[in-house]
Amino acid sequence: MITKPKGTYDVLPSESIKWQKLEDAIRKICALYNYKEIRTPIFESSNVYHRDENDTSDMVTKETYDFKDRSDRSITLRPEGTAGVARAYIENKLYVDNITTKLFYMGPMFRYERPQKGRNRQFNQFGVEALGSSDPLIDVEVISLGASLIRALGLQNIKVKINSLGDKESRDNYREVLVKYFENYKDQLCPDCLERLNKNPLRILDCKVDHDKEFFKTAPKINQYLNEESRNRFKEVIKGLDSINLKYEIDDNLVRGLDYYCHTVFELEADIPSFGAQNVIGAGGRYDSLISDLGGPKTAGVGMAFGMERLLLATDEAGKDLSKTPGLHAYFIALGDDAMMAVNKIMTLLRTNGLCCDCDYLRGSLKSQFKKADLNKSIFTLILGDNELKDNKINIKNNLTDEQETIDIEAVYPYIYEKVIEINKKGKR
Ligand code: HAM
Repeated sequence: MITKPKGTYDVLPSESIKWQKLEDAIRKICALYNYKEIRTPIFESSNVYHRDENDTSDMVTKETYDFKDRSDRSITLRPEGTAGVARAYIENKLYVDNITTKLFYMGPMFRYERPQKGRNRQFNQFGVEALGSSDPLIDVEVISLGASLIRALGLQNIKVKINSLGDKESRDNYREVLVKYFENYKDQLCPDCLERLNKNPLRILDCKVDHDKEFFKTAPKINQYLNEESRNRFKEVIKGLDSINLKYEIDDNLVRGLDYYCHTVFELEADIPSFGAQNVIGAGGRYDSLISDLGGPKTAGVGMAFGMERLLLATDEAGKDLSKTPGLHAYFIALGDDAMMAVNKIMTLLRTNGLCCDCDYLRGSLKSQFKKADLNKSIFTLILGDNELKDNKINIKNNLTDEQETIDIEAVYPYIYEKVIEINKKGKR
């Protein structure tokens, strides 16, 4: 048997309804905040992600799926959405209108990671990117959009952790101090952190291996090295969050795993014990140099992305059942060839007019057809035998009330249509 690649999974029909509901919730929230959808390729030229040889993020150095295509071009499956969106922003000159371009996307990303609960090699992200404004309040808007989604999904106990990495000057000052500090502990740093010490010492603070060592806890904090401008900017972000009553926690160890961030960085953490290390369901921050690093005009940017699998796991753990399906309006039981042909015609009329229906193309026994009507959670079950057909009649059962009647075949559509309106009005389904 050929099986799926490690770290991937199939979304089966019983699960896909959850995805559709999550996607619907996302689209509604993005409309509220005026973010428009962008769809970029799933693979890009490798230099969209491998931009800088000094990049120390695990995602870029260890986890990308890189390959040569048949014309020997270097291609990378997208490990995240931001860089591809930035590439599309530049290539399509979305900056010319001098507006803030607010974009959202959903879709698969690829990272060669060790698979475990909430961590896959092909996973889906929902992300937003706001390009063209450095207003601190747009950072607040992005975080608020994330919080709105969490609320809409009925999730509680989600912690927003936030920090500022400041501007380049602040980070350069901090970097110097940090290098001096960690040089005293060189013999205790893991091999990755030793490499980070020269390339990007801030990323040492994000290390999962060295994280609990005592000298980590006493390392200097970035907030002591923010210059006045960066400090004031961060204050404005905090003021904005306070003004909309959005709860947060300032975490001065938060530096994030990607190298493009500056100023605001944040993570949304779920308090779910079984999630283990995968409790970060969404994260983001500001990236004011990314567009220019990719060859575009100097453009400010801020965004965030959620792991959609993690959002769905969190809703499962919270006992929110997104898997309920609305069921069919009608299920037809046909007894005999002529009856089946007639059902085919009635179903076409119903479907053309927006009513969902089905019948048994295996032409099973009466009992098994009733079972299938049940499985499809149909409001009405209609039974047609060749005898009824001769009288132009059909038997209809309302599964919500157990009432049965015999009606004219021509009356099927108006009958079901009116009853469905009544049922919808009463909110019974
Ligand atoms: P990230 O923190 O690398 O940020 O990923 C965002 C979210 O994607 C994570 O918080 C997590 O929920 C989910 N995620 C990451 N890796 C996996 C995986 N292997 N399996 C399942 N879920 C995963 C970014 O990707 C940035 N592009 C976010 C951003 C947008 N920053 C600014 N704009």
